[in-house]
Amino acid sequence: MWFTFILLLPQLTLSAHCPSGCFCNDKGDAKCIGDISDIPPLDPKTTFRLLLKDTNIKVLKDRSFQSFSLLLRVMITHSAIDTIQPEAFHGAPQFRSIKLSSNKLLVFPPKVFSEQSNLEQLQLDDNQIVSISSEHFEGLVNLIELDLSKNRISQLDADVFQNLTELIYLNLAGNQLRNLSKTLFHNLRQLESLVLSSNQLVSLESGSFDHLSKLCFLSLHKNQIREIPPRLFWNLQSLLNLSMSGNQLKYIPAESFYYLPNLTMLTLFKNPLISLPDQLMGNMPGLQELYLYNTSLVTVPWNLFANMTNLRFLNLHLNDKLNYLPKDLFCCLPNLNKLSLKHNNLRALEPDLFSNLTSLQILMLNDNKLESLPATIFCNTSRLEILDLSRNHLKYLPGDVFTHTGALNALSLSGNTWKCDCSIMGIAEWIRDNPRLINDLNKGVACYEPYHLQSHSLQTLTHAELKCGEVVSQTMIMTTSILPTQVPATSTPQSSIASSTKARTTETSTASSITSTFATTDSRFSPTSDHIYIKPGNVYNNDLAFYEKIVLDNGPEIVHNNHYDGWVYLWTVPSTGPFSGFMTALYIVLLVTGVVLIVATWYALYRLHEVLWMLQKVTMGDNQRIMARRVRSFKVKL
Ligand SMILES: *[C@@H]1O[C@H](CO)[C@@H](O)[C@H](O)[C@H]1NC(C)=O
Ligand SMILES: *[C@@H]1O[C@H](CO)[C@@H](O)[C@H](O)[C@H]1NC(C)=O
Ligand SMILES: *[C@@H]1O[C@H](CO)[C@@H](O)[C@H](O)[C@H]1NC(C)=O
Ligand SMILES: *[C@@H]1O[C@H](CO)[C@@H](O)[C@H](O)[C@H]1NC(C)=O
Ligand SMILES: *[C@@H]1O[C@H](CO)[C@@H](O)[C@H](O)[C@H]1NC(C)=O
Ligand SMILES: *[C@@H]1O[C@H](CO)[C@@H](O)[C@H](O)[C@H]1NC(C)=O
Ligand SMILES: *[C@@H]1O[C@H](CO)[C@@H](O)[C@H](O)[C@H]1NC(C)=O
Ligand SMILES: *[C@@H]1O[C@H](CO)[C@@H](O)[C@H](O)[C@H]1NC(C)=O
Repeated sequence: MWFTFILLLPQLTLSAHCPSGCFCNDKGDAKCIGDISDIPPLDPKTTFRLLLKDTNIKVLKDRSFQSFSLLLRVMITHSAIDTIQPEAFHGAPQFRSIKLSSNKLLVFPPKVFSEQSNLEQLQLDDNQIVSISSEHFEGLVNLIELDLSKNRISQLDADVFQNLTELIYLNLAGNQLRNLSKTLFHNLRQLESLVLSSNQLVSLESGSFDHLSKLCFLSLHKNQIREIPPRLFWNLQSLLNLSMSGNQLKYIPAESFYYLPNLTMLTLFKNPLISLPDQLMGNMPGLQELYLYNTSLVTVPWNLFANMTNLRFLNLHLNDKLNYLPKDLFCCLPNLNKLSLKHNNLRALEPDLFSNLTSLQILMLNDNKLESLPATIFCNTSRLEILDLSRNHLKYLPGDVFTHTGALNALSLSGNTWKCDCSIMGIAEWIRDNPRLINDLNKGVACYEPYHLQSHSLQTLTHAELKCGEVVSQTMIMTTSILPTQVPATSTPQSSIASSTKARTTETSTASSITSTFATTDSRFSPTSDHIYIKPGNVYNNDLAFYEKIVLDNGPEIVHNNHYDGWVYLWTVPSTGPFSGFMTALYIVLLVTGVVLIVATWYALYRLHEVLWMLQKVTMGDNQRIMARRVRSFKVKL
């Protein structure tokens, strides 16, 4: 009870100074929510920060804050403000931040902030603002953060930000900008974050970013950019994150990403890229992750990743035209830990492709069109633990392909079109000996052809079943070509094969091709590119869960965000919410348990002490007796 009372005490005493509907604390924060239509009559001597949220305020009247000579930060958000009178902020030049996010502003008067020479943070995001001019920002000589995102601005004059020379963070995301003047950002030499994502930009002028030598974050994600001029980013030597994803780029000029030595993130995904130049990426030792997906690339230059020596995660996947990887592509990635090549259009891999990836632990090759793999492909990837080869067109794998991958513990092989002739015995026996390494045996690692062995599990195949020892390849050719066109379901051992499989078999056996060596691309068995083979009873797992790297539209709140700053939370259990009752009960139970435990420990210690003391007395008594006896015997001897 006392505890609760002490917790509530400051609240009770403070609420005396606070109008109803508001909460105030002794740090000078006043927070008012709900049915308020004007600035509440708060105590000007104790209010340093004012937060009004979900109110009905429509008009900010002239000199609204004149009496609040100590107020530093004002936030009126999620309200109905559609009009700001021309002198609304006059008489309060001490403001450090003004936040009017999520209102209904269409326009705001020029020079309304002209007295705000101390203002550091101005947030006007999520309004309906259509246009702005340099007059709006006149006098804001100390502005550090300007957020104009989620408005309807379609054009910006070249001089609009001209005098905001201290600006560090500028967010223009989610507007309707189509073009930007070349000199728009030229005076923003302190700028560290520039967010231009989710606009309609079609092109960028050469030199647009030339003066931004301190820029760390540049987002151009989700625009309509078709081309970029050469050397656009060359002066951004501090750049850490660059997102170009979600645009319409088909080509990128050579050497575009040179001289970005500190880059840690580069996004290019979701561009209809057709090809990349031979010289594209300069030294970027800080780059650890690269995502290149949803492009139209057919192949990539061999040295694309050669300068990214510290890359740890590379996701070159979901490129449905990508069918060839040059043999030296991964030559220089000694630290690469995870490589995803899934959902591409790969049919074959170079034998040396992975030979320098000595740190590789995870390799995703699923959902391609691989028919086999070279026997030596995993020779040097001795740390490989997870390998996904499911849903390819594998007919065969060399029996010794996994002999050097001692760390392998999760291999996926299902959804392939295994061709069960004698040459498969090597891998079939390996599977039989290592069933625990394969995590999808239950999904069907089974023969697809010949017909009489269809759905026969690979691990139970025997030499006898395959008629090994006879002239193998001829037998196989005979088997496939002799197969009748229509096989009654009852005459096969697998009477439960789904009808789709039957249809496929029909199509298969009517085809005229005779040769059936695994190495040739056998179109009879290869599903067409837009068709993925579905094993009976096996659901094609269409997971495209690789969009976790989507760039945020809003950058980091790098400047002191005063939202919760200063509010004291002693009682960390939320007072509202679905579990608050339960949490409170739990809190009390834990508290009581703690107290009981402490008391119990004390008591136990006390008892222990007692026992020890008695023991000590006893032993001391014993010692005394022994000593006395010795003394006595000594005297006797004497
Ligand atoms: C920038 O500031 C200077 C001097 O303070 C002033 O003369 C000029 O008109 C301002 N420019 C803009 C575009 O507001
Ligand atoms: C942007 O385009 C509009 C119309 O297409 C044009 O009037 C305007 O001058 C352009 N602005 C810049 C900064 O290039
Ligand atoms: C790159 O980063 C390093 C260390 O983070 C820093 O010392 C260096 O100044 C940065 N380089 C540039 C050009 O900003
Ligand atoms: C910049 O990239 C790093 C490394 O990928 C990432 O952790 C960080 O969140 C990114 N920051 C922004 C603002 O995108
Ligand atoms: C790696 O970067 C250096 C300079 O940054 C450049 O000279 C070299 O051509 C780049 N290598 C590749 C393969 O692009
Ligand atoms: C790739 O992007 C296009 C639109 O740019 C989209 O329609 C398509 O679904 C995407 N494909 C994948 C595999 O994500
Ligand atoms: C592996 O790395 C060595 C030395 O860096 C290089 O000479 C060789 O070409 C690379 N091999 C492949 C297949 O990338
Ligand atoms: C494995 O790497 C060594 C050097 O680390 C290289 O000499 C050898 O050719 C590589 N093996 C294969 C099969 O590429």
